[in-house]
Amino acid sequence: MQGPLQFELHTVESVKSTNTSVKELAKAGAPEGYVLVASQQTNGRGRMNRVFFSPKGTGLYCSVLLRPTVPLPPAALTCMGAVAVSETLDRFQVLSRIKWVNDIYVNDKKAVGILTEGAFAPDGSYQYAVIGIGVNLFEPVGGFPDIIKDTATAVFSSEQDEALRRSFLQKMLQRIKFYYEQLPETPFLPLYRERQMIYQRSILFSDTDGIKRGIAVGIDDSFRLLVKTSDGAVHAVERGDVSVL
Ligand code: BTN
Repeated sequence: MQGPLQFELHTVESVKSTNTSVKELAKAGAPEGYVLVASQQTNGRGRMNRVFFSPKGTGLYCSVLLRPTVPLPPAALTCMGAVAVSETLDRFQVLSRIKWVNDIYVNDKKAVGILTEGAFAPDGSYQYAVIGIGVNLFEPVGGFPDIIKDTATAVFSSEQDEALRRSFLQKMLQRIKFYYEQLPETPFLPLYRERQMIYQRSILFSDTDGIKRGIAVGIDDSFRLLVKTSDGAVHAVERGDVSVL
């Protein structure tokens, strides 16, 4: 079982990317539980080399350094983070759905992205893992940029509120701690399954031999997305991105 997790909170005004900073700190020996929170990121990063829009004061941009000692499926930490955030949203009466593997939607638009990065020892165990979470808490002044304005949303309709931001962070870290300390048990898996928004929907996914179309039918015990193609085959998708048609 994973040992107890204690957080050490560090806040900065602006940083390129909290994930990049925490990865550097991890390599330099920073302890498990180190959390970096920024008011703004100038180079916020998403999966697949995408940019994560991180304007000043309207979002929660944070990275948590973990050093798991137990073997885990590749997507386990991302899924744990997704459930922790989704449950935090519950506490604020905000209904959310998860889009495999790392996005959280509110009112059918993306409100949260998660980027987990790690380094592994030759035996496959983690040297470190960084869970980076970006939550669009409040609507940015001037709205979201054109490129994401139809697909992105904010969690709260209120103005920027520092106390709310702090309370959100605190509750989210509590849920991460709750689940992390139970690893390799994954009691968050049923919730991760229940909260999916893409079941029975037609999606595009990437396979070893290119992009394919199929219907998302489930999540297996290793957090892989199960997709049924028209030939009846069920594919277990481990990585990559899916788009809903
Ligand atoms: C995605 O949408 O694909 C994932 C977005 C992850 C964004 C968070 S914000 C905090 C941390 N630092 C980063 O540069 N990215 C993650």
